[in-house]
Amino acid sequence: MKLKSSAVAHPNIALIKYWGRAVDHPSYLNIPTNDTVSMTKESIESSKTGIDLITHTTIEFSENFSKDTAFLKTNNELSVFDQSQMKRILAVVNPLKELANVDLHFKMVSENKFPTAAGLASSASAFAALATCTSNALNLGLDNTELSKYARLGSGSAARSIHGGFVWWKKGNSHDTSYAEQICACNEFNIAAVIAVINREEKEVISNVGHDSAHSSVFNPIKIKESERQCVEIREAIMNDDFTTVGKITEKNCLYMHSVMMTSDPPLFYWNPNTLRVMKRVTKLRYQYFQTAKLLKEGVKQKEKEGIECYFTVDAGPNIHCFCRTEDIEGVQGFLGDIGIPESDIVKVKQADYGSKIIEDHLF
Ligand code: DP6
Repeated sequence: MKLKSSAVAHPNIALIKYWGRAVDHPSYLNIPTNDTVSMTKESIESSKTGIDLITHTTIEFSENFSKDTAFLKTNNELSVFDQSQMKRILAVVNPLKELANVDLHFKMVSENKFPTAAGLASSASAFAALATCTSNALNLGLDNTELSKYARLGSGSAARSIHGGFVWWKKGNSHDTSYAEQICACNEFNIAAVIAVINREEKEVISNVGHDSAHSSVFNPIKIKESERQCVEIREAIMNDDFTTVGKITEKNCLYMHSVMMTSDPPLFYWNPNTLRVMKRVTKLRYQYFQTAKLLKEGVKQKEKEGIECYFTVDAGPNIHCFCRTEDIEGVQGFLGDIGIPESDIVKVKQADYGSKIIEDHLF
């Protein structure tokens, strides 16, 4: 048995959101109330910006270890994960140890290939990488479906980061039936995103709190029902390279989730004034784009093309993803600059070819 392995994984951005755990299952299983859809993302021009949206993790099991240890590596320095993070790490590693019938302690080191204080930290890439290298170190040889189930035990959205491209997480109704599958790698689908990093701090209220309180919102049943329908529609649109429909559904679903957040008990407000500024800018750019297109169609001469077709989505924090076609990335960046978002707070992303994979490069 090799007992040591490393993996890398990309984060993902949800188009149809996970917000709320199914109440009829134990909460540690992280079974969502509705199916969700995401795009696994990687940074564009990572060598130029120094931001590579990837988590690299190494784990080793050995009889020489007298206890389990886990470290976060930042700028070549190691810091110990706190108790609540360790609990989530054990939620992934322990069931895999049981499956492999291995009773050894481990050492784990995880590194994000982007500045830690960039507001981009992702538990999805972290737990996807952890499940992947642990399974390999323990010689389990699990396929992506199985890895997705174990990644989910660390963080729900990590179930999706096992795959590249566009991904569908079937909510299922047990540990064995709740996992993500790839919709398509569809690199021919012309889509990219520009992230405006509004706040580099950690989330004020962690998602776990919201997954429990979502049920207190009267809008939650509507969000669940609509999300199920939207998953089917968005998959169709992704397969048909229909950017407009993908964008519209993505933005609607984000607003449904935030309506639930804001009307839960206690209410959760994740936006700040800059988030709203970007939202308004995106909707205005889109309005201008469609107006110009309409006038052109009617044969009315236009001085120049106005606006850009773009759509936003926001997770449990103030940072905002603006989806656009690849050729419009610079344009969106320019408009964000106009409203005061500096270039240093902008990260450009595209769909990633893979979610998680084993690599030979060990961190210790
Ligand atoms: C709003 O429980 O997966 O991003 O707190 O990072 O572990 P962590 O997140 P998780 O909830 C994700 C919530 C979301 C929507 C989504 O990704 O589907």
